[in-house]
Amino acid sequence: MQRKTYAAIKGEILTENVKEIINKYPDYKYYFGVVKNNAYHHGIKSVLDLIKGGINYLAVSSLEEALAVRKYTIDIPILCLEPISLEYVMDAINNNITLTIESLDYVNKIIEMDLYDKLKVHLAIDSGMKRLGFYKKEELNEAYKKLKDNDHIEVEGIFSHFATSGVMDPYFDKQVKNFLEITSDIPLKDIPIVHFGRSLTLVNHPKLSFCNGIRLGIIMYGFSQSRKDGKSIKSKIRKIKRKILQKKYKCSQTILENDLNLKTAMELYTEVISCRPVYKDDVVGYNTYKIKEDGYILTLPIGYADGVTKKFGFVYIDGNYLKIVSDCMDMLLIYSPKKVEVGKKVEIFGKHVPISSVCKILGINSYHLFNQISNRVVRVHIHDNEKEEITY
Ligand SMILES: Cc1ncc(COP(=O)(O)O)c(C=O)c1O
Repeated sequence: MQRKTYAAIKGEILTENVKEIINKYPDYKYYFGVVKNNAYHHGIKSVLDLIKGGINYLAVSSLEEALAVRKYTIDIPILCLEPISLEYVMDAINNNITLTIESLDYVNKIIEMDLYDKLKVHLAIDSGMKRLGFYKKEELNEAYKKLKDNDHIEVEGIFSHFATSGVMDPYFDKQVKNFLEITSDIPLKDIPIVHFGRSLTLVNHPKLSFCNGIRLGIIMYGFSQSRKDGKSIKSKIRKIKRKILQKKYKCSQTILENDLNLKTAMELYTEVISCRPVYKDDVVGYNTYKIKEDGYILTLPIGYADGVTKKFGFVYIDGNYLKIVSDCMDMLLIYSPKKVEVGKKVEIFGKHVPISSVCKILGINSYHLFNQISNRVVRVHIHDNEKEEITY
């Protein structure tokens, strides 16, 4: 790595997170690890750590992503959550990749294909998100029958997706009701894998009795969203609002707090590549910042093309939190009252700057933060003290 800007990915943390989740929520048979977009940008090699923790099915967005996983593991089943173009169905079969079936039209086209091997499919149900999936019972019934009657197709699973995290939320209950209504004519018990929940619905709701699978995304990467009602006015208002909702809509049981002990596995680092003196009233960067007191400008090789902007506020260098005063596509400029050696390590987030604080400053959630750290940033995957640099 010549440009010393990298995301350190701690494999053991991912493994321990998954173990902790399964240990505290042991009632599922299938734990899907959602590893779309390069495992939420942790690098696809992370699948090995997740599998080590107990993930026994993976889920990705596209066939390309599934094939990228296959470079690391050939055994684990992979569900492609978006339907794939029909011309690639044989690639899916040959690589043990399970397809999502989301419409009758797609079923008719697959049936017309002359499949000579077994294709595994999961039926997607649109229970309210209005994104993908069957929303008409009659079409689902017809599709199910046609698929069951075909010797080359195995209906291995059925699933839906929650639009909300489900905290005192009538929409959560509505989606469960819709799912049961749409699937009421097909024998759910005969379908080996039924999965609906995602990270936050896992912790916020008791297990849905008809599900034996759960899809874990952001929670594996360290976010359990345990909520304690604080003493601030904001949190008191939130509590009152929840009570009103609960009463008005008779929402199903919601669990706010959990005792999951999870850690974030990604840390982002760079280094100082230049340090120069500046004086009061100097203007730095693209004329964006006027120096208030004599000091130094430190240049870092990380910029908005890497996903880091001035809005991050500050960086951590050698015990000090220093202000980001200007950003460019590839570099950040930092103000320091003292001289700093070229080559000093800089933490953008990690031990001293928690990801949750960065999210708060930016006003975004952890999904967006992870996905914003671009693929240009080398991922250094660390496992058993061994480091592997992964470039994309
Ligand atoms: C269909 C589906 N299932 C599961 C997940 C994982 O969600 P989460 O990260 O909230 O657990 C996603 C994420 O986008 C998804 O699209």
